[in-house]
Amino acid sequence: DRSNSMGVNLADDDRLRTLAQQINAAVRDDWFAEPLVPGATPAGEWLQVTNPADRREVVGRWLPADSATVERAVVNAVAAQPKWDATPAASRAAILEHAANLLESRMAEFIAMCTKDAGKTIPDGVGEVREAVDFLRYYACQARKLFTVEALPSPTGETNTLQLHGRGAFVCISPWNFPLAIYIGQVAAALATGNSVIAKPAEQTNLVGYAATRLLHEAGVPEDVLQFLPGDGLTVGAALTKDPRIAGVAFTGSNETANAINRALASRDGAIGVLIAETGGQNALIADSSALPEQLVKDAMSSAFTSAGQRCSAARVLFVQEDIADKVVTMLAGAMAELKVGDPGLLSTDVGPVIDEDALKTLHAHAERMDREASPIATVAMGEDTAHGSFFAPRAYALRSLDQLEREVFGPVLHVIRWKAGELDKVIDAVNSTGYGLTLGVHSRIDETVEKIAARIKVGNCYVNRNQVGAVVGVQPFGGQGLSGTGPKAGGPHYLPRFTTEKTITINT
Ligand code: SER
Repeated sequence: DRSNSMGVNLADDDRLRTLAQQINAAVRDDWFAEPLVPGATPAGEWLQVTNPADRREVVGRWLPADSATVERAVVNAVAAQPKWDATPAASRAAILEHAANLLESRMAEFIAMCTKDAGKTIPDGVGEVREAVDFLRYYACQARKLFTVEALPSPTGETNTLQLHGRGAFVCISPWNFPLAIYIGQVAAALATGNSVIAKPAEQTNLVGYAATRLLHEAGVPEDVLQFLPGDGLTVGAALTKDPRIAGVAFTGSNETANAINRALASRDGAIGVLIAETGGQNALIADSSALPEQLVKDAMSSAFTSAGQRCSAARVLFVQEDIADKVVTMLAGAMAELKVGDPGLLSTDVGPVIDEDALKTLHAHAERMDREASPIATVAMGEDTAHGSFFAPRAYALRSLDQLEREVFGPVLHVIRWKAGELDKVIDAVNSTGYGLTLGVHSRIDETVEKIAARIKVGNCYVNRNQVGAVVGVQPFGGQGLSGTGPKAGGPHYLPRFTTEKTITINT
């Protein structure tokens, strides 16, 4: 089946073919990223950026921020915030909407960069731009509503109003797996609510973050209100999060780093900093014997292998009821044999590279352990031209129990566990016992089963009879609980208030 998760046949779509040509024409080899900090003169060594699909290809270079640049960024951010906060929310929103329009008009250029900097396939690149545009428009719209000042009840004859303000200088630390969408989502939320922002992208994807920052400047965000600080976790991330002048941190990444940021925020002398963290998951898909095997396999494939499994929402474990398990496993192996692993710039590619050699090593170590301790179901054949890239062939393994997985496996590996009638509660308990709570897929035609699972499972996003990736901004607010994050959900109505502080004004008239 050559269609994507929305059922669109990618290879036959004329618009996509034209877009693919535009994307290939937009590829350059002189992209760069450097700190964007007014008044700073960053010093240091430029580093090469290579294509994850072919490490021989240099696609650009980047300059990590040094400590003096980090300090200057904090001073600038603190100084710039009051004026930005005093800018009407509607004006801030209009700038974000302008950025959305610019981004849409430069879609091919940004997808080209997502492909070369992050190894994104073209459909994934389309999704990145779409989601980033949605975040810009959604948060602009939400901010207009949120910042509409309403008079409060005044039973004492006084006039009471409740104002919202930005918290101050906000740090946004974004991940490499959504270098455009999550980068823009965090930054747009913080800006919409009147914060100044220091944005630190993942070290693997500085080029996309830099281009997104320049676009926001072009749209009208002042350069001291949004600053860009590429760099390593210690010089930039750790220095910023332990600095009491920073009012809050929006972070998406690993649970370990989220905890380290939380500790840094807690150990500072000074104002209490707020943390909004989205982390990983050990996401399950539970299917009972009433599930339609064809639909289940299609959705399991898209949930496990889209974006080379490098989505925090991706399905890692398929719990399938024994009665349909043989059929499902056979169909799964058959569907996997059709997957094309290779150049993400080709429309025919389903699975591109993983992000870097470290990721590849971790995945190979996991596969070696699974080869010994589990039963292999299928390994996808590598495509052509994969020898020089960070490619990992998608795999599926049969496991006895969830205990065989030590931690989240961030790549295209699906684990299958069989369960028997009467064991549904045990399955739900096992999933809950991981402590993660991001996504869950359910495939069942029995209403009571669906209701029971939805009521008992501790996750942020539960998807029934469909795939479990690709939450749509404003439609499926996204984010987890427990080890998976603090909330509030990105792309949901409660996200922006966390970036604000409230002020009550009481006037005795
Ligand atoms: N928001 C993404 C999804 O829903 C994951 O980060 O797949």
